[in-house]
Amino acid sequence: MKNIDSKSHVTGKSIYLDDIPTLQGTLYAAVYSSPIAHGEIQSLDFAQALDMPGVVSIITHKDIAGENQIGGIFPDEELLAEKELHFQGQPIAVVIADTEQQAFDARKKIELEYIEHKAIVDAREAQAQNSLIMPPRTFRKGDVNKAWQDCEYIFEGRAQSNGQEHLYLETQGAYAIPLENDNIKIYSSTQSPTAVQRTTAKVLNIGMHNIEVDVQRLGGGFGGKEDQATPWATMAALGAQLLKKPVKFVLNRIDDMRMTGKRHPYDSDYKIGLSKDLKIIAFESTMYQNAGAAADLSPAILGRSLFHSTNSYYIPNTQVTAYSCKTNLPPNTAFRGFGGPQGMFVIESALAHAAKELNIPTYKLQHKNLLKEGDELPYGQKIEGGILPQIWRKLVHKHDLQSIENQTDIFNKNNSNFKKGFSLMPVTFGISFTKTPMNQARALVHIYSDGSIGISTGAIEMGQGVNTKILQVAVQVFSVSADRIKLESTNTTRVANTSPTAASTGADLNGKATEIACNALLARLKTSAAKSFGVSPDDISIKNEVIYHLGKATDMTWTQLIDQAFLERVNLTENGHYSTPVIHYDMSIEKGIPFAYHVYGLALTEVTVDCIRGTYEIDSVKIIHDFGKSLNPTIDFGQVEGALVQGIGWMTMEEIRYNDQGRLLSSTLSTYKIPDIYSVPKEIIINAAQSEGTDFAILKSKAVGEPPLMYGIGTYFAIAQAVRAFNPKAKLEANAPFTVEKVLMGLYADN
Ligand code: MTE
Ligand code: HPA
Ligand code: MOS
Repeated sequence: MKNIDSKSHVTGKSIYLDDIPTLQGTLYAAVYSSPIAHGEIQSLDFAQALDMPGVVSIITHKDIAGENQIGGIFPDEELLAEKELHFQGQPIAVVIADTEQQAFDARKKIELEYIEHKAIVDAREAQAQNSLIMPPRTFRKGDVNKAWQDCEYIFEGRAQSNGQEHLYLETQGAYAIPLENDNIKIYSSTQSPTAVQRTTAKVLNIGMHNIEVDVQRLGGGFGGKEDQATPWATMAALGAQLLKKPVKFVLNRIDDMRMTGKRHPYDSDYKIGLSKDLKIIAFESTMYQNAGAAADLSPAILGRSLFHSTNSYYIPNTQVTAYSCKTNLPPNTAFRGFGGPQGMFVIESALAHAAKELNIPTYKLQHKNLLKEGDELPYGQKIEGGILPQIWRKLVHKHDLQSIENQTDIFNKNNSNFKKGFSLMPVTFGISFTKTPMNQARALVHIYSDGSIGISTGAIEMGQGVNTKILQVAVQVFSVSADRIKLESTNTTRVANTSPTAASTGADLNGKATEIACNALLARLKTSAAKSFGVSPDDISIKNEVIYHLGKATDMTWTQLIDQAFLERVNLTENGHYSTPVIHYDMSIEKGIPFAYHVYGLALTEVTVDCIRGTYEIDSVKIIHDFGKSLNPTIDFGQVEGALVQGIGWMTMEEIRYNDQGRLLSSTLSTYKIPDIYSVPKEIIINAAQSEGTDFAILKSKAVGEPPLMYGIGTYFAIAQAVRAFNPKAKLEANAPFTVEKVLMGLYADN
């Protein structure tokens, strides 16, 4: 089945926030933000700005009726700065004017006097000064300190990965409309309507019931709108509350890039110990997460870095500590993989380092230590449905790894100006919000009296196809035509207390809630049909809109059944609730079963480096991925391709640069490069693994949104291998992204 949005997307008819027809009298907002990364406000002068044409109001923290607080995990972030300034781009005031342009023009006339303090931009420096978001967390298994003496080889090193700009096509924005009795309706480009509702209620000092948040779809979120869509919606609502007029707000690209957080940069130390036969005996690591100026989701992201710090390997003794370091950068936030990629990059760097020193291919080490069924992870969960060894075998045979290795060697012997490299990148990614209570969802299903169906859930459609999958669930349960079903916008009045659509769980959680609601309705319909035939409901089924009895078609159709059930006053609406069973986690001992299941996969990446220019091409990426029983292969393959390329961008060319004063230098698309049609792999081959799926996944179709991003990590190590084929003295220290400049340095540096 095609994505239900594909036609309206390509014809430009899909409605995004900025396409919503505006009401008469709508005002427009622009945020005035901190020009410095650290300091204090001395004085603010709005006189000139207020005199500018069209300006209606300039809102500051003083206008807030409730709490000036937007922190989700910790209350450590003001909506509008009161005195202290913690990052460049931190919102201070909201200019409201008749037009967008007038709001921008007036913003320039605001005068700020401030005292500037020294900014911290580096995570290690923050940690050294005890500038932390929270106390560090440590995952332990076995006893590393004792284990070192059993190791034949020990290697130590450092691995750094940089941040990443989400670059959703649709920038952040919101449209708030005052309703009667001080109620407010907010359209928001958010992954978390409930977070918008909760925070706005707190800031405006009204109840959550006074606020209705509605989301049709996002033009991409990638985690960047899990937490950081909220402040803009709250500001628009604040304007609507104060001025009793609709207020609209869409960030331009530069504001969006300057004011919002990104993927967290990590800087890590590692120590890895191997036995003589190349088993990993011990792994120790310390990770420094650059959280930025406030907690945002950093604590949860830090957790996932720890969960995935041993990636796909069984290691009997591990000790990994992670610090969330408070710096003067915009608060960093969720980004596809949610800290998992950063954790995996460290262990992959350690393995590549060890392999180089031992003069063996990295894949030998990876393969030797691969997780298999029943292996216990450092956090206590055991591998179930662990098909990684089978996936490995399939890939090695299907794509003839031996011949790739041989051909790479031959090519490198025969070419002095071009070198090839390849890598394998296994992925084991846990599915569930690591905070157990978040793993719940609801769906509201109406069957209308004409037989058509409306479905509301807590899921946000952001291009990943979750609405199509939910529709498919209803099609399967009812056996009706897809044309009869409409996926409604996501709305807090219809479905309340939702978790964000994140952690790749959108289809699982909301799909299961939909399945539960549809099954309850189906049972009622079967009872109604059975009654009219004088038979048992157990013997009734529906196939292609025809009612069957004991496997034989009756002359009753779906629409006739619905008509009959309605006249019998059967309830044709159901609210399904799903909460993931089994999972639990105890942070005090860092053990439990945090994940409903894991997704597995393996990528083989081949690259060619131009050793004169330092440029490179990705020749191919060949992937075997565990989809379970994919509900929608078209969508799922698209997710793998998109995530892979996004991962490659993070590892190769996307370079976020702040200067020492915390100013974002890469704040435009001319200074921040993402993969385009010329830089993506020349060939991407995706195959599905033989997989049973799991009952925790919707109709056994495993979550697919985030795991494939980490295949992109393989590109880093394939390039590193090619660079070393040219210059064996090239530096070992991993430092992503592997930009063309860094490749060139690596080719010609002495160490
Ligand atoms: N795919 C598209 N096209 N756009 C997006 O914004 N976000 C990703 C992934 N795939 C995203 C996407 C992220 S970060 C997550 S967590 C999941 O989709 C969320 O949706 P799901 O839970 O329905 O998979
Ligand atoms: N993943 C994504 N988002 C989240 C998570 C998670 O594990 N926990 C809280 N928000
Ligand atoms: Mo995805 S980073 O969990 O929104």
